[in-house]
Amino acid sequence: MINYILNAGDHDGFRALEWKQLLLPGPVTLHPDVQLSQALPMINHRGTEFRELMRQVISKLRKIYGCDCDIALLTASGTGAIEAMLINFLAPNEKLLVVQTGVFSDRMAKIAKTLGMEVELIEPKEGEGITPEELDSVMKRVKPDAVGVVANETSTGVAHKNLEELAKVVHSNDAIILVDAVSYLGGHELHMDSMDLDAVASATQKALMSPPGLSFVAYRERAAQRLQEVPRRSVYWDFLSYKKFYDEKHETPATPAVSTMFALNKALDIILEIGLSNWINRHRAFAEALNFAIERSGGKVYPHPNWRSNTIVVPYVPEGMTPAMVKNLAKEKWGLEIGSGGWKIKEKTVRIGTMGWYGRNVVYRAIRMIVDIYGGEKSVAEEAFDYYLSLL
Ligand SMILES: Cc1ncc(COP(=O)(O)O)c(C=O)c1O
Repeated sequence: MINYILNAGDHDGFRALEWKQLLLPGPVTLHPDVQLSQALPMINHRGTEFRELMRQVISKLRKIYGCDCDIALLTASGTGAIEAMLINFLAPNEKLLVVQTGVFSDRMAKIAKTLGMEVELIEPKEGEGITPEELDSVMKRVKPDAVGVVANETSTGVAHKNLEELAKVVHSNDAIILVDAVSYLGGHELHMDSMDLDAVASATQKALMSPPGLSFVAYRERAAQRLQEVPRRSVYWDFLSYKKFYDEKHETPATPAVSTMFALNKALDIILEIGLSNWINRHRAFAEALNFAIERSGGKVYPHPNWRSNTIVVPYVPEGMTPAMVKNLAKEKWGLEIGSGGWKIKEKTVRIGTMGWYGRNVVYRAIRMIVDIYGGEKSVAEEAFDYYLSLL
């Protein structure tokens, strides 16, 4: 509906009826039922219907997080969840070691500095994440209280699929691991309990296929212990208060974004009905098929093959084209809205999200678009689509 409205001024009457598919690094195209859920009548956030909604959302999120643990549900975008995670689990003057992979690790470092924490950076090799060995040797030297990892660096498409190994190293060095999973949760395998992750932040508008506006931090024993010890420095972000409200009443301390919660609740139903592992795999298959089509058409992708994201594909634009030209072509010719590049590769790359609601026709269209842009043989598109189907 919104795209009809936004295009209503176009001169070409047919274009006015086109639905633009978002293949952005977020936000994403929603399942129609998720979209419509936002229009449900408002309810009292201190009433019985709300308490049931909250109970359902938290119990479904626990399944997605793979944890039997506390989850603070925040009315804020992902950045709010990262700030809340840091302020609750680290005291001023404590040391955070951040794995520097792109824009969002830089943001985590900036938040920590602003909150008075000491920040050290560890930069992996180009297009890669950090290995347990590299992390161990830096931790021995730096002796941080916590390590911050952006599980899937949305600005570069570099994903850490070794969180469990990293957590072991972090714990053997007497620290906690704080994970930014904003574009990872729902798109990659993550099971907090079995991976022994201490705190994981995420948000609605990426692989959980919901509108922007809510974010969450799930945390386990080591982090919960810190919650008791770290001085309270914020009212809005105080997880002790979120916990008290949830445990006693299934409510939040302040007025939450109720309509976004309706949508999230519906999206989680759809994801759990499809099956979480199928849902994750759908992202992986789309991303792998796109990477295949890019490389077979003579293009290059930024992340090293071992570190590629399921949710964001980051190709270099072809010689003679700018990211703006590629984005424009994607939108005008193929009806696909893709994202600009980010971080130090901003001027050379675009970002294609594989998140949100789409059918096979969109996957096929995206593959055709890639082959068109990189000047590949038409048969590559057929091969890439067959490859996609074989991965489902
Ligand atoms: C990995 C990651 N972390 C943090 C954020 C910040 O989230 P938001 O824009 O919702 O504040 C984003 C947003 O794209 C992200 O991708």
